[in-house]
Amino acid sequence: MSITALKVSQKSAAVVTGAGSGIGKSFAYEIARRGGQVICVDIDLKAAQNTATMLKELGTKAIAYQCDVGSESAMEKLSNEAEDLLERPITLLVNNAGVGAGGSIGEMSMKDWQWIMKVNLWGVIHGCHFFTPKLKGLGYGGIINVASAAAFAAAPEMGAYNVTKAGVLSLSETLAAELVGTGVNVTVLCPTMVPTNIIENSRISKEDKEMGARAMEKLAFTNSDKVARQTLSALDKGKLYMMPQIDAKIWWRVKRFAPAPYARGIGEVYKLFR
Ligand SMILES: NC(=O)c1ccc[n+]([C@@H]2O[C@H](COP(=O)([O-])OP(=O)(O)OC[C@H]3O[C@@H](n4cnc5c(N)ncnc54)[C@H](O)[C@@H]3O)[C@@H](O)[C@H]2O)c1
Repeated sequence: MSITALKVSQKSAAVVTGAGSGIGKSFAYEIARRGGQVICVDIDLKAAQNTATMLKELGTKAIAYQCDVGSESAMEKLSNEAEDLLERPITLLVNNAGVGAGGSIGEMSMKDWQWIMKVNLWGVIHGCHFFTPKLKGLGYGGIINVASAAAFAAAPEMGAYNVTKAGVLSLSETLAAELVGTGVNVTVLCPTMVPTNIIENSRISKEDKEMGARAMEKLAFTNSDKVARQTLSALDKGKLYMMPQIDAKIWWRVKRFAPAPYARGIGEVYKLFR
């Protein structure tokens, strides 16, 4: 069967960042389940190795690869080595690695701003920059960028996170436009809450972690495996936007159709809880 007769998510040669935990781990698993081979990239080598071991048990080739997505040189190196590691051209890139940090504007430290921008935004820029020419050259494949409903919801005390995700959304929209007709699909994932380790790993106070964990328990109506499956299917269908939950879909529409009332409303709700 020729490569282009396949759906992008099937039998792919994939690079998944942040594959050691949560949504990235689920992407890696689902790609392997669809017959793909995966380079499991993570800053945490042990976590990447655990995911690679799980994938190998499915009978596929999986390689653990330690890399900080925020490092330009490390990501360039990854892009140069990936094809040799899997012994075939990369057909699928999932720019998933991300971190959380909270705090209001003017209070959150510059150090935390720089950290989150580097991982969440520069990480995705690096992935797109170094892998897009290779995918274009192949004339086939896909890029999934993991943003968040935070890209458009502008929730208070999440300014830095919101900025990074709005950047990922805009980058994905631009990339999709540039790749029309090239055979390379782009999907941007914008979930609300998905139970993972993100809150535990975030730079927020102990109290905020506890509050976040409680909210996650009450408000997460999905799981990372389901989100990965839905997103890979969206990529196969050439869909740019993937809002996996009903609340994400509602916020997306309200924000687009009534942006000013939305902005006022979210500020009023925030005042009630301060
Ligand atoms: N969980 C949610 O509610 C939620 C909602 C919307 C969007 N997201 C996004 O989903 C993505 C995955 O997050 P998750 O929820 O699975 O979190 P997670 O903390 O469970 O997993 C994130 C993974 O990324 C890795 N990572 C962190 N910094 C890295 C770096 N510099 N280089 C390489 N790897 C790095 C971590 O080691 C970890 O394995 C993130 O981009 C996040 O912003 C999550």
